[in-house]
Amino acid sequence: MITPKQNMEFFKERRKKLASMIPHDALILPSPPEVIRNNDVNYPFRQDSNLYYLTGFEEPESVFIFLPNKKPESVLFVRSKDELMETWEGPRWGPEAAKEVFQVDATYPLSELEKVAPQLLKDCHTIYYSLFQNEEFDHRFKLILESIKKLRGRSGRGNLPIKDSYPLLGELRIRKTDDEITLLKKACDISAEAHIQLMKKTRPHINEMELHGQFIYEIMKRGAVREGYTSIVASGNNATTLHYTINNMTLKEGDLLLVDAGAEYQYYTADITRTYPVSGHFTESQKRLYEAVLQVQKSIIHKVKPGMTFKELQEETIEQITEILIQEKVLKGSRKDLIEKKEYKKFYPHGIGHWLGLDVHDAGAYEVNDQPRTFETGMTLTIEPGIYIPQNAKVPEELKGIGIRIEDDILVTPSGCEVLTSKAPKEVKELEALVGSEL
Ligand code: GLY
Ligand code: MN
Ligand code: MN
Repeated sequence: MITPKQNMEFFKERRKKLASMIPHDALILPSPPEVIRNNDVNYPFRQDSNLYYLTGFEEPESVFIFLPNKKPESVLFVRSKDELMETWEGPRWGPEAAKEVFQVDATYPLSELEKVAPQLLKDCHTIYYSLFQNEEFDHRFKLILESIKKLRGRSGRGNLPIKDSYPLLGELRIRKTDDEITLLKKACDISAEAHIQLMKKTRPHINEMELHGQFIYEIMKRGAVREGYTSIVASGNNATTLHYTINNMTLKEGDLLLVDAGAEYQYYTADITRTYPVSGHFTESQKRLYEAVLQVQKSIIHKVKPGMTFKELQEETIEQITEILIQEKVLKGSRKDLIEKKEYKKFYPHGIGHWLGLDVHDAGAYEVNDQPRTFETGMTLTIEPGIYIPQNAKVPEELKGIGIRIEDDILVTPSGCEVLTSKAPKEVKELEALVGSEL
């Protein structure tokens, strides 16, 4: 049994807001399927972010149905109690206790879903459900819709319209409450401390794997239950692979190490990247490129405030990074031409940041009415410029095999922004003093 860490008011408040957004509709959120890793071993289970956001319920094989302004309004379908299964897998809440503890209006065993759900849903105007996320549940959803079709009979109303639930929940999740910001700050603090520990332990000949293990140890020691995403511990040329997760190479003297890793604390994840020299000292060219990326990052963070957009920040980043690439003789030509032809993409292929919250790439549309969404107080996001020069690029020799990204987590405030991950050092002097200081 996983005991909820939050007061249920935390989740009820969210349901209240959602009810005002869809007063006549309904929402269905299934837990993700358990996935086989090999033979009879599953990947660790983690609740769906939206289901968690509205209920706090963490067990697999559960479904939440929300029917604003109906009776019952909040309904959870959960696993039945089962003495034998619980001996193997641990205790389950079961419908009776789940109703009490999670303070929903009704609970049923999951086995009754196809019988109960059509009755609950038949009179709503629209059903919000995310298709093609969960094939197994899509099939159950189809059965529910078929029953509803029969129940509605020859009413002339046709089938129940279905809308994707993801943007709906995104509209709520994109604005963080003070309670959420407190949790995210904790995730950021834990992650920053773990990054510092990794810096101290970094040295030539250690393996990326050992540092990855160290990160997990450091965050768990501080109360995080898992990483928010698979850490990227990438030395040398590996850092030029954006989502490198093999993490099994031995660190070489003279290389840089890029660590992109974040703790998940009560479902909120940090997302921090730091890049530093394996030996504790930047070479001249590494330092030049690093300082240049750091300058870009700081100038972009400085621009974050209500009313700003990711689009504007990305355009400014592209200008600055293209200029650096020209100065470094990585690209040749005029800045305007190179930007028009998107030449910078070979060395800076990603966006400047993303929303951050329950998911590392958090919910929330980046455009509203076909226009870039403007930042608002209480939104949280990352700022993460980078330059990646693969070993085989036709560039000055000294720059080959360098990947640099510097990523911080940002809260938009009324007057600008707050860097939530400022405890993770990023100045050259700080990094050089820390790296390898605890061998
Ligand atoms: N860690 C994934 C990202 O930075 O977007
Ligand atoms: Mn990120
Ligand atoms: Mn990251």
